[in-house]
Amino acid sequence: MLNLILQALWYILPAYVANSTPVLLHGKTPIDFNLKFFDKRPWLGKGKTIKGFLFSVAAGTLTGVIQAFIENPDLTYIMTRALFVFGLSFGAMTGDSVGSFIKRRFNLKRGQAVPLLDQWDFLIGAIAFAGVAEFFLGFGDVLPDLTLILVIFVITPVFHILTNFLSYKLKLKDVPW
Ligand code: CTP
Ligand code: MG
Repeated sequence: MLNLILQALWYILPAYVANSTPVLLHGKTPIDFNLKFFDKRPWLGKGKTIKGFLFSVAAGTLTGVIQAFIENPDLTYIMTRALFVFGLSFGAMTGDSVGSFIKRRFNLKRGQAVPLLDQWDFLIGAIAFAGVAEFFLGFGDVLPDLTLILVIFVITPVFHILTNFLSYKLKLKDVPW
């Protein structure tokens, strides 16, 4: 069980890093350039910036490359993994943006929390793009099996709650959620 959780964390780590990076960056230019959708609401909102997107993909990819190096310091292996963790990170940020697109359609303001959507949007994107990478680039076995995917989807909201509560206890956050 613990082994399965550690395996899941190691697999999805680049996506976690990508998803957590943008808050530190204070990007300005929004991906949607402040354009409005047909419903006269923002496409994505001011919380999705170009800088946040690009640096997060870079941070996630770098994390994955370091992981690959730890696993097997062979250049061919690292190059192959680099492509895959790029897919994982790019997918995470794309999923995160799609999540915001959905929130804006429901007239939810930037930063308004939607349990599960906020924790799963980037995971769905990451795993979907990993799947695309596997399919088109012929990596063979980069997609985790269904059990691992399920573990990832269950532990992510749990870790989200735990880390938020910890940040609150450490007085890094004002509210425990
Ligand atoms: N962020 C960014 N660019 C991105 C994603 C996030 O600059 N592509 C920054 C924004 O400052 C954002 C913060 O990271 O406010 C937290 O990200 P997130 O929780 O995903 O965005 P929310 O502010 O909650 O906005 P939304 O309601 O659209 O999810
Ligand atoms: Mg949010």
